[in-house]
Amino acid sequence: MRLFITGASGYIGKYLLAGLIEAGHKPVCLVRPGSVKYLEPFAADVEIIKGHIRDSILWKSELHGIDGFINLIGIIREFPARRITFQRLNFQATADLVELATEIGVKRFLQMSALGASPASQANYHRTKYEAEMYVRTSILDWTIFRPSLIIGKGNIALKTMVSLIKTAPFIPVIGNGEYRMQPVDIDNVVEGFVKALSNDNTIGKLYDIGGPDRISYNRLIDIMIKQMGFKTGKISISVTLMKLIADIFGQISFFPFTRGQINMLLEESITNSKVYFDDLHIEPIALQDSLRKVLNG
Ligand SMILES: NC(=O)c1ccc[n+]([C@@H]2O[C@H](COP(=O)([O-])OP(=O)(O)OC[C@H]3O[C@@H](n4cnc5c(N)ncnc54)[C@H](OP(=O)(O)O)[C@@H]3O)[C@@H](O)[C@H]2O)c1
Repeated sequence: MRLFITGASGYIGKYLLAGLIEAGHKPVCLVRPGSVKYLEPFAADVEIIKGHIRDSILWKSELHGIDGFINLIGIIREFPARRITFQRLNFQATADLVELATEIGVKRFLQMSALGASPASQANYHRTKYEAEMYVRTSILDWTIFRPSLIIGKGNIALKTMVSLIKTAPFIPVIGNGEYRMQPVDIDNVVEGFVKALSNDNTIGKLYDIGGPDRISYNRLIDIMIKQMGFKTGKISISVTLMKLIADIFGQISFFPFTRGQINMLLEESITNSKVYFDDLHIEPIALQDSLRKVLNG
């Protein structure tokens, strides 16, 4: 299939491109000019349209013969002063793509959302992900929505931050009691689902919660990583209130590692009882220890 992909230059996008190319698909990627360099390894197999999502009037004539859209655009952190907001990128970009697909008559639409997307979430990330889902769900398109928990793979920024802390800091800061849970899923399991969904019409109109086979607390994740890396780094609990105050003060500085919204997301947990994704798409779930081994020892 000839697939129009947005958000291809990011962490997940690059894995997905590799999987799509291997499966014989032809990606056509909308990439901001400053991000084209990230797709150089795929230059032989990928068509690139340079542009911004908001300016579709300038590039939509380049979309011809497209069989499906895949939207990965999303931000985990906003910087309103630079007009980088959840509303624009998590919601409006999706809405614009739905309208574009409808206008040019492309029916198939795969949307990347996130586990925990909900109108009731304390985190604006999750609320705007939900609004985007609803826009997709109420469209006339043949949609499939994917809602993964934390995706484990090389390039995941949260994991990279933890790895460098484990290597360099005497203690890993843990927000509150660290007992909030998540269900990390291997990047290969996610890529496999997107690729398989393209050739499986039973996935049309489905919204998949995706949690890996291991449900663990944040504490346990840190412990496993420390052990696998062979370090003896300790953990130190810092109260939720204090961490939120610190986040409010420094969260707008891009190199500061977290925001109040991200703390809220952690506390809300990222878990699911559903295994429908793995069953429907005949995917063998990869155990967390194996996923981490690939990331930490590779
Ligand atoms: N990572 C996870 O564990 C995880 C879990 C669940 C769901 N997700 C979702 O998966 C998707 C991809 O996440 P990721 O981890 O791959 O994130 P990422 O590495 O930050 O990539 C995000 C993508 O969105 C694009 N983007 C960001 N701002 C943009 C803008 N202003 N205009 C156009 N494109 C813009 C980026 O393009 P540039 O390269 O040009 O910046 C990049 O290609 C997101 O929707 C995220 O919410 C991720």
